[in-house]
Amino acid sequence: MADSTAPARTVTLTDDATGKSWKLPLISGSTGPDVIDIRKLYGTTGLFTFDPGFTSTAACESRITFIDGDKGILLHRGYPIEQLAEKSDFLEVAYLLQYGELPNTSQKADWVHHITYHTMVHEQLIRFYSGFRRDAHPMAVMCGVVGGLAAFYHDSLDIHDEYQRLVSCHRLIAKLPTLAAMTYKYAMGQPFVYPQNSLSYAENFLYMMFSVPAEPYKINPVLARAMDKIFILHADHEQNASTSTVRLASSSGANPFACMAAGITSLWGPAHGGANEAVLKMLMKIGSKDKVPEIIRRAKDPNDDFRLMGFGHRVYKNYDPRAKIMRETCHEVLRELGITNDPLLETAMEMERIALQDDYFIQKKLYPNVDFYSGIILRAMGFPMSMFTVLFALARTAGWVAHWQEQLREDEQKIGRPRQLYTGATHRDFVELAKRG
Ligand code: CMC
Repeated sequence: MADSTAPARTVTLTDDATGKSWKLPLISGSTGPDVIDIRKLYGTTGLFTFDPGFTSTAACESRITFIDGDKGILLHRGYPIEQLAEKSDFLEVAYLLQYGELPNTSQKADWVHHITYHTMVHEQLIRFYSGFRRDAHPMAVMCGVVGGLAAFYHDSLDIHDEYQRLVSCHRLIAKLPTLAAMTYKYAMGQPFVYPQNSLSYAENFLYMMFSVPAEPYKINPVLARAMDKIFILHADHEQNASTSTVRLASSSGANPFACMAAGITSLWGPAHGGANEAVLKMLMKIGSKDKVPEIIRRAKDPNDDFRLMGFGHRVYKNYDPRAKIMRETCHEVLRELGITNDPLLETAMEMERIALQDDYFIQKKLYPNVDFYSGIILRAMGFPMSMFTVLFALARTAGWVAHWQEQLREDEQKIGRPRQLYTGATHRDFVELAKRG
């Protein structure tokens, strides 16, 4: 946090009506905007702050991820996302998020070993699936089965025990791919495929998703690398809606599996993790690139609530750095699969081209975000649309558990309890039914 040797800085808050004023401490992070410390504001002034959507509120202190939305910068523990996507792998990034440093050779081997040997799920958990309709949305199934893990791992639910917390992190990162693949297999009516310890994290996921007992499954290294990269790009993104949900759930002392299930529910919405599915639906509906100008016109029309899915971001007011990598990966995957002219990709590229030259998008600083190209890649790899957000949840689990750990290591543990600007009825007396008009 702030350098304790630096002179204390303050800002002054003045009530213009009464002339009363209060000094509020200003705190600097290692980079990014300074924050006004309002922790004692209510106690000293009797005032609350009002910030629905948290557009100007730092809800916690964190050392994990930094975003400079104006410059389009994303750092995990200081390392740029571009370098991690190119040179690292997902499990290494998960370690980095968790511990704050890149692992050395033996630390990495140990971490990978722990994750690999926790990939199986309890046989009884498998029965959960048959309780769901086969056409259930996979995210609905994931909310249930991830929360349900708490019923199986009583030995890692003590959130005050460092070792148990770590085991829960291993379990969550390890089992999410297994549960996600099982969700897909259940919908397809195919047998569940057990994990293979000889495979890497991404390879194993593709294997559990797409192999069938009737024939051998050959891993395509280009697709496995693309899968791993997609996981890296989704691993963490500081205090987004789902991560904040995990933190809020955790602040009450809830167990890790319950907290992650809460994160999954929050991720599901189309303004957050559900956008990748919404992008593909939008591209399919548009159909061809000649219809793009019409769709751009609709997105700009103030009387039409249609938005370009995969465009815009609460924090990025520049090109989302993850979208650039995703676009390159998209070309690599389509080339590998011999898809030379994908109408969806053509439509997406035309949309990006027109939007980036359009005054509306320029002025509002709306650029493609991480979800804009990911759906095209995942569809080409064979994933149904309904699984896209599940893949996001799988990867984001690495970030969620890192934030959960960080929060539980803080000296001061406080339940998250926002206040409100109340605009409802003030005190009134109950009216008997017979006397109501
Ligand atoms: N298409 C057209 N106009 C847009 C779009 C869009 N995609 N996004 C924002 N705007 C306009 C919006 O109408 C508003 O205009 P005005 O000021 O005239 O009312 C202005 O830009 C600001 O929008 P906002 O809703 O106040 O901005 P926000 O920061 O609250 O919302 C967002 C961010 C991501 C929810 C929004 O840009 C959006 O709905 N995008 C489409 C959904 C999407 O792609 N979501 C994935 C986000 S990235 C992955 C993730 O974090 O999960």
